[in-house]
Amino acid sequence: MLEEQSLPPEIASKFDEEFEDDYIQDIDMLQNFGINSLDIKKLKSSGICTIKGVQMMTKKRLCAIKGLSEAKVDKIKECITKIVTSNFLTALEVCQKRQHVFQISTGSTELDKLLGGGIESMAITEVFGEFRTGKTQLSHTLCVTAQLPGSNNYTGGKVCFIDTENTFRPDRLKDIAERFNLDEEAMLKNIIYARAYTSEHQNELLDFVAAKFHEESGVFKLLIMDSVMALFRVDFSGRGELSDRQQKLAQMLSRLQKISEEYNVAIFLTNQMTSDPGAALSFQVDPKKPIGGNIMAHASTTRISLRKGRGENRIAKIYDSPNMPESEATFAITLGGIADAKD
Ligand code: GTP
Ligand code: MG
Repeated sequence: MLEEQSLPPEIASKFDEEFEDDYIQDIDMLQNFGINSLDIKKLKSSGICTIKGVQMMTKKRLCAIKGLSEAKVDKIKECITKIVTSNFLTALEVCQKRQHVFQISTGSTELDKLLGGGIESMAITEVFGEFRTGKTQLSHTLCVTAQLPGSNNYTGGKVCFIDTENTFRPDRLKDIAERFNLDEEAMLKNIIYARAYTSEHQNELLDFVAAKFHEESGVFKLLIMDSVMALFRVDFSGRGELSDRQQKLAQMLSRLQKISEEYNVAIFLTNQMTSDPGAALSFQVDPKKPIGGNIMAHASTTRISLRKGRGENRIAKIYDSPNMPESEATFAITLGGIADAKD
């Protein structure tokens, strides 16, 4: 019964079918253009499941897929041009596509307000802050709130959680579900979880994610990575490996951006901070910065810094946004997850 409450089936299928009909074209249709099913299978096993997914890959990346020769890739690319006759949309069509954008509540109305409604789909939201500022607690809260119907026809949906630090705790989710009157078991079933062990593994998991989002089309609404940089930090150490790290990171983030657009999901990343050695010299007020440099900065649509307030309170601030005011929001970490601060 409560499972229905978390995912109202009539609304969900109507809302998502519209998006699917207009924007998601299965790569199986390549068969009608003479591409054999084995090659299509190879694409799918690399997480490329839609026509748009092929368009989003460079020829070089496609040729790197085992068993796909350059000639085959050329043929596939040629078919795509035949299917997608125009890459251009009118601004009105872009507007119509943007109508499918939704926001997931953070559990705190103040924080939602700061974000313009919540964590947005077709975009990457990054929160960063020192330890115990609530990044993991916010990730857990979103696992539950993403399943609740929300404003703007948001129907609620499933969540994918990628954990790089082994801090995922289903027991915490139960506390949060209780606050929102959700059936525990149904709520837990709507979350798929993977532990990433290396930065390479973290990236590879996205093949599976894309395939899953395609298979259960329109059902997944949120992808969480807690934390995005932890493994990159370990796997690439020292100045000498920095450019390699940034290149791999850029590839993964670009992949995430594409997934968010292709399947209309919200991407939520947590990030850590480092002290900036140049800060003392330049008299900066806040010498701590999120890690990941320019690559991370450019990939995130919205960046939020978190800091500790009094007791359980935490303060969120929009960081470096070109179009959002530099305001702050105070929220609290409670047993039931992220909530408004009491005073
Ligand atoms: P790192 O991953 O170490 O960088 O930190 P983080 O930002 O992910 O911190 P996290 O989200 O784990 O927040 C930890 C804070 O949440 C601590 O201050 C805990 O006291 C608090 N917290 C965790 N569970 C509960 C709870 O059930 N009730 C309350 N009130 N606070 C909790
Ligand atoms: Mg954490």
